[in-house]
Amino acid sequence: MDTSSRWTRFQTFYQNYKSLGMALDISRMNFSADFFEKHQSSIQQALTSMNQLEKGAIANPDENRMVGHYWLRNADLAPTAEIAKVIRDTVEKIIEFSSSIHHGHIKSQRGKNFSQVLLIGIGGSALGPQFVANALGGSDDLMSFYFFDNTDPDGMNRVLSRIGSRLDETLTLVISKSGGTKETRNGMLIAKAAYARAELNFARHAIAITGEGSELDNLAKEEDWLSRFPMWDWVGGRTSEISAVGLLPAALQGIDIEGMLQGAHDMDEATRNVNLLQNPAALIALMWVHMGEVGTTKDLVFLPYKDRLELVSRYLQQLIMESIGKEKNLKGDIVHEGIVVYGNKGSTDQHAYVQQLREGPADFAVTFIEVLKDEPGTSLIVEEDVTSGDYLHSFFMGTRNALYDNARESMTITIDEVSPKTVGALIALFERAVGLYSFMKGINAYHQPGVEAGKKAATEMIAIQRKALAHLRNNPSRSFSVEELARELDSEKSLEELFKILNHLAVNQRVYVEPASTVFGSTYKIKN
Ligand code: PA5
Repeated sequence: MDTSSRWTRFQTFYQNYKSLGMALDISRMNFSADFFEKHQSSIQQALTSMNQLEKGAIANPDENRMVGHYWLRNADLAPTAEIAKVIRDTVEKIIEFSSSIHHGHIKSQRGKNFSQVLLIGIGGSALGPQFVANALGGSDDLMSFYFFDNTDPDGMNRVLSRIGSRLDETLTLVISKSGGTKETRNGMLIAKAAYARAELNFARHAIAITGEGSELDNLAKEEDWLSRFPMWDWVGGRTSEISAVGLLPAALQGIDIEGMLQGAHDMDEATRNVNLLQNPAALIALMWVHMGEVGTTKDLVFLPYKDRLELVSRYLQQLIMESIGKEKNLKGDIVHEGIVVYGNKGSTDQHAYVQQLREGPADFAVTFIEVLKDEPGTSLIVEEDVTSGDYLHSFFMGTRNALYDNARESMTITIDEVSPKTVGALIALFERAVGLYSFMKGINAYHQPGVEAGKKAATEMIAIQRKALAHLRNNPSRSFSVEELARELDSEKSLEELFKILNHLAVNQRVYVEPASTVFGSTYKIKN
């Protein structure tokens, strides 16, 4: 394409959403001239379905739930006065509670002001808070943040050692919508044990954010934790950043949560627009549809040119892949729908995988995120008339051009600055794009049967381990090969798993291993 037609195409497909402090450019996506016309009816239908979803239609049929994250930033939309009230009351409680913590009206057990926060959660109960804490945090933070987002004991010990002696001024948020997620439960138990070692009562430092009546909720009530905040069945884990899950941590950190709510609210308004060019979420969803129509499945690479946004790809990876990655559509047909999402940040990735993006398979489209504001105040001049931020911006444009010149597709989201408002708007933008895309594809974006399958399989592994240990304990003088043990446990279908379990137990000194000439001949005995 010559320069003048490129400029014309840019002007057509660069849409500036001034009130959102954001622009979207899809001019470097290679969709056909009739693309919009071809998909007009399907996207309009998706917009209508979104409208019904926002009014409280059951949009997650498997779980028979409404999908109400849009009400969180506009309680007037909630289908009942009761839901509207609980949304407003929760935001108010978050603001009041955070203020009491900041002003020392609520103190730790030893009478200290809380200065640290340990957040325990996983998936949708951690990724949003991590993204926001990194995007909007800084030297003015009112509290320092730490995360347990896994069940890795070594990982948690590292976090605890960073908190060190400040555990007595650490508030621990345990976040789980279901209240029964094992990784989070384990994190809570490890944190509890650390408080006990420091002769502190965990309950005096703990907050639960969970569904009413969940295991976690009951425990927090029973042990009289410092406070409890609600999660509702009509908010999904990965769309919960604008509920107490994301707002409480953000408020504690000192982030302007009203700005986040406003940004999300404004984006919701913009993305209800049936005029496609004026609706950035509809354009993004359409571009994802286009990516699936070009013969090969295309991955989605997020490249924000801003360190603060480096977790955006992890956050969006979950939002998009857990929502869209589905075996079956709503009719029950096998579709294996999905978009691979990865990324990190520019220009760092220029020195990593961008080489392959330019010269390897053209099986992706990049979403660049351009941030206009470099830093508060003026920047150091590193060369004549050039700052470090100018370099960052030039690397963004350079990579965008280099990809374009080699027929690689990209879109660009431009934001004025990273602020509570633009971060709230970005979250709402992709929540809506995911919703529209899934309606267009006829899939349920709001369940996660694949995640459940993995959890179920892990529970079976724990059951095998329990059986194995019990058998070894009941036969303390015997040393078993994997095959013998499997036979006696009637677990011959799980030989491989038993082999792995025994080796894991051996390395962690919970069983003895007697080595043999081959690794499969080793025998295992209980450690007294
Ligand atoms: O998006 C989701 O629903 C999941 O990623 C959940 O957030 C994740 O499995 C954690 O679940 P819970 O909040 O119930 O502990």
